Amino acid sequence: MRIRPILRGVKSYLPFFSSTPASTGGTISARYCYSVWLRHQVTLFESGLDPHPRIVAELGPGDSLGIGLAALLSGAQRYIALDVVAHAAPDRNLAVFDELMALFRDRAPIPDDAAFPQVHPRLASYDFPIHILDDERLQRALAPERVQKIREDLASLYHPADDTCVSYICPWSDVDAVQAGSVDLVFSQAVLEHVDDIRFTYGACYQWLKPGGVMSHQVDFKSHGITDEWNGQWGYPDWLWTITRGRKPYFINREPLSSHLSAIREAGFEIVDVLPVHRDGGLKRRELAGRFRSMSDDDLGTASAHILARKPR
Ligand SMILES: C[S@@+](CC[C@H](N)C(=O)[O-])C[C@H]1O[C@@H](n2cnc3c(N)ncnc32)[C@H](O)[C@@H]1O
Repeated sequence: MRIRPILRGVKSYLPFFSSTPASTGGTISARYCYSVWLRHQVTLFESGLDPHPRIVAELGPGDSLGIGLAALLSGAQRYIALDVVAHAAPDRNLAVFDELMALFRDRAPIPDDAAFPQVHPRLASYDFPIHILDDERLQRALAPERVQKIREDLASLYHPADDTCVSYICPWSDVDAVQAGSVDLVFSQAVLEHVDDIRFTYGACYQWLKPGGVMSHQVDFKSHGITDEWNGQWGYPDWLWTITRGRKPYFINREPLSSHLSAIREAGFEIVDVLPVHRDGGLKRRELAGRFRSMSDDDLGTASAHILARKPR
């Protein structure tokens, strides 16, 4: 058992220590954002879903709004970002946006597993997906007046106009944060393992989506370095996990894949595709905390999964 994460949890109760993570890691890099968005887009296409959503919402963008900005630069009309901590600073959003522009203009290959070994979903080819983003579509998406409008909206993010194409809603806690039945795609990357209430969150996604709208979520079930074993979070009794979380605004919810799939179905979605990544080693069943001991072998060995689901028409 690692002592440091537990001490960090205890420390977060003390005054003068911030309990908010300083950064989230990934979306500080434009290349990461470009890679993640194109992986979602290619995966939608390969699962027979529409890879060209007009209105896009993202849960948990993190350090910048870059993944959603990549969606706008590939043709989406409007992007709504929802987070619980305002990690994304205006200067960084603009810097990432400019780098993204260059990557799209160059039709750069998708940064692959060598560039980002931890990122999923994996693709069969990392060539620029010209079959999804042909020249005509990209020319329209990257038209100078459109790019200028997105830049202006980004610069005035905290005073949005009615016709804004980027919104940053943070902290969000209410289903009414987004107009019901208005969104074509809700996506997230490495977020749904952190939300405190997955049933509430999938229910909110259901309400926001249009009939036929789609969710694309990459979920990481590993322990995020909190324990020595990759699945060590399932070995902690609830009381010790609560202390390790401390007052942090979000942590790991410890829900395995099957709980996500049940919550998604309960919200009313049909599951279109699940792309799991299995991993050996880690905790054995006898080492699990009481309430996790009856989890399935499949859950116990699933390190991450990409989940695609659709709201019925
Ligand atoms: C590990 S970071 C991932 C950031 C980014 N998606 C990336 O790929 O780098 C997790 C993000 O989820 C956000 N988060 C946690 N709980 C959330 C919730 N209930 N709704 C929306 N975002 C949430 C955090 O604030 C943080 O931005």
